[in-house]
Amino acid sequence: MNRVYLASEDSLLLRRVLARFSGEACLEIGSGNGGNLSELVKRFSFVVGTDIVPPEMPLGGCELVLADRASCFRDSTFDLVAFNPPYLPSEEVSDAAVDGGRDGVDAAVAFLEEAVRVVKATGTIVILLSSYNPKERIEFICRKHGLTMTIEEGERLFYETLAVYSIRRAPAMRAASPGP
Ligand SMILES: C[S@@+](CC[C@H](N)C(=O)[O-])C[C@H]1O[C@@H](n2cnc3c(N)ncnc32)[C@H](O)[C@@H]1O
Repeated sequence: MNRVYLASEDSLLLRRVLARFSGEACLEIGSGNGGNLSELVKRFSFVVGTDIVPPEMPLGGCELVLADRASCFRDSTFDLVAFNPPYLPSEEVSDAAVDGGRDGVDAAVAFLEEAVRVVKATGTIVILLSSYNPKERIEFICRKHGLTMTIEEGERLFYETLAVYSIRRAPAMRAASPGP
């Protein structure tokens, strides 16, 4: 079953954090009904979303591509890549809007690998995770690619805690200066 994901608490938390970013080109992977894209068009010159389900509403000022994650884009294209992945733990993916696979992180891991490929070296990845999701697999990918992960904002709900993180290349190690 594929249905449009309607904006929820997670969408609104991500949107609040996205309001802190600006630049040239940005991508939201899994843009759903496009509400987050409407926020991004205020501060980015080129805004595009991908999803496997078309939005129910027409979108203004941005592009939408029906595509698997970021598969249709070249490497190192975007200043910002954001996503609120399907994150509910599930044995199998029967609802692609919410089912995240094992520990709810399979989808986040797949989105992140693509985000790392298409973000510029100077760019930022913004990811929303739930307390349902153990962070270890996300942290492992960050370490593998030399990225650092910083919490931007969290929100405790009745049944889960949500958190939005920014992920960037770790600053290059400064060469030790020679002694006197
Ligand atoms: C939790 S919803 C978030 C929607 C929207 N970004 C928001 O914050 O309201 C996850 C979105 O990812 C999309 N999605 C799932 N698998 C995808 C894939 N392989 N490629 C692109 N989008 C995908 C779903 O259709 C859904 O719209």
